[in-house]
Amino acid sequence: MAIKSTADKVATIVQGYTLEGPTIELGAAIVDGELHKDAPVRLPLAMMNRHGLVAGATGTGKTVTLHMMAEQLSTAGVPVFLADIKGDLSGLATAATGSDKLLARTESIGQPWSGKTFPVEFLALGGDGQGIPVRATVTSFGPILLSRVMDLNETQESSLQLVFHFADKNNLELIDLKDLRAVIQFLTSAEGKDELEELGGLSKATAGVILRELITLEAQGMEKFFGEPEFDTAELLRTAPDGRGVVSCLELPTLQTKPMLFSTFLMWLLADLFEDLPEAGDLDKPKLVFFLDEAHLLFNGASKAFLDAITTTVRLIRSKGVGIFFVTQTPKDVPADVLGQLANRVQHALRAYTPEDAKALKATVSTFPTSDYDLAETLTTAGIGEAVITVLNEKGAPTPVALTRLRAPESVMGPSTDALISSTVAGSALLPKYGTAVDNISAYEKITAEGGDYTGAAPTGPAAGAAHPGGSRGRGQSGAGDGGAAPGAALDPTAIDAEARRIEEEILGRPSSRPAERPKQPEYRDAPERQAPRQAQPTGGGGIGGGIGDDLAGALGGGLKSMARSLGTQLGRELLRGVFGTSSKRRRR
Ligand SMILES: Nc1ncnc2c1ncn2[C@@H]1O[C@H](COP(=O)(O)OP(=O)(O)OP(=O)(O)O)[C@@H](O)[C@H]1O
Ligand SMILES: [Mg+2]
Repeated sequence: MAIKSTADKVATIVQGYTLEGPTIELGAAIVDGELHKDAPVRLPLAMMNRHGLVAGATGTGKTVTLHMMAEQLSTAGVPVFLADIKGDLSGLATAATGSDKLLARTESIGQPWSGKTFPVEFLALGGDGQGIPVRATVTSFGPILLSRVMDLNETQESSLQLVFHFADKNNLELIDLKDLRAVIQFLTSAEGKDELEELGGLSKATAGVILRELITLEAQGMEKFFGEPEFDTAELLRTAPDGRGVVSCLELPTLQTKPMLFSTFLMWLLADLFEDLPEAGDLDKPKLVFFLDEAHLLFNGASKAFLDAITTTVRLIRSKGVGIFFVTQTPKDVPADVLGQLANRVQHALRAYTPEDAKALKATVSTFPTSDYDLAETLTTAGIGEAVITVLNEKGAPTPVALTRLRAPESVMGPSTDALISSTVAGSALLPKYGTAVDNISAYEKITAEGGDYTGAAPTGPAAGAAHPGGSRGRGQSGAGDGGAAPGAALDPTAIDAEARRIEEEILGRPSSRPAERPKQPEYRDAPERQAPRQAQPTGGGGIGGGIGDDLAGALGGGLKSMARSLGTQLGRELLRGVFGTSSKRRRR
């Protein structure tokens, strides 16, 4: 093949990125070391629901890329959700002032630039941060996601599905963690013996382990994430009065201490949206674009059921008009089944220091279409704020690979001031709706209420008190609130462990076989680098029905599988909970 001239390479790019319809302008191509501002690189808005990947080594510009894309989406009237891991995306609410250096950059790529603010809604999980509190009810969260937060194995996960099934059938609303604990305690009590037997497949021993993990969760202060008012994910689809898309910015300031909880919550938001949105067919522009920064946290140590659910969601949500962009360091952080569905690629520079890096580089190169670039060379030498790009054109074919100098954001690359964030939150229409947690009658109250249907099942002992810290509604029997350990980070993990073991032993009627001390501090047990994947290879799901069937079969271990088959129709209710076992608030109404 004859060597192509630079002019021919530029012509290929110009032609490949001459697109019909509205676009997100990404930047200008660099060919043979020269920047060509007359060769713009862009992404059709109509193709953003074909999902994407923004990858690259640390500090190469991934977060700025998603910031810049979010601005243009908002301007085009598309709502955006993003997880603000490092707090540097709150700057979207503050107009940038262009330095000479910045303006030289924007001029060089042909970007008309002026400082702007964008309509930002600040959210905070469980009120952990300044934003509007985002909570989910336990029932909505569902057993698969909760199993992941609790680090349950697949047998325990299937047992937890049975607990949810029992609660669903018996009108025991699982709103917060103490509701779930009360139901498990009931099932393992003398009074719940018949129900437990009828349920089948749930052993006392497994229930004891789940209970133990639940208590650990409460003791880690996780209660505030679960409860009412539950966040309505339809809030993420709003536009501002001027027609621009609202950018919902979920602060995750303490992500590193609870990566599993936070990444699982992001999946809950997505799963909840997925369940509620109608099929939309091909739209001119997406209804929402969802950016998942630090996406590797989603996949680390994921169970097969969880991975299948992500794969299924990613595959099916695009026809509902939602685009998902994963942001992570290398494409190998993303399972192949998911990666294969990410059509729009923005690959920032990769390092090649170690043999491991070299392998990742090679793998990354092989995922790109053939091109006029030496990609291994290009990817190791690309500058900060530059990336190798290929996207889908409006006909659904990949555009030519182009090394691109990316546009700069028009709002601040970095945090907004605390004062601005607080005043934005104080003025938000969502604050009256979600600002204050409420505790309505639910399973815990029903089970512990005297004369209720479940009188025998009052949680007893200090653990009951642990989940009822204020004692404000201390209607529980026999010792609820009687000097039990209060939840919170200040608790000694050894004491929590001892208490959890005591309860487990009480249920089992024999000494716990668990090691006396947790091998790791609970706060860090989810740290990605320490977590060995449970399932080496993700597998593809089927359609919704097939996928869930597979998920469940996969999730249920050993003899439980045949039990699940025979329970077929009974379990049908759980299956309808959704791909992730979640249950939509609107469908529960
Ligand atoms: N498109 C751009 N225009 C102007 N400056 C940029 C651009 N992209 C990146 N930069 C500069 O590079 C810095 C680092 O970028 P960024 O924070 O996006 O890196 P990152 O890949 O997200 O890193 P990490 O993996 O550590 O989160 C920015 O603070 C900014 O100064
Ligand atoms: Mg970043």
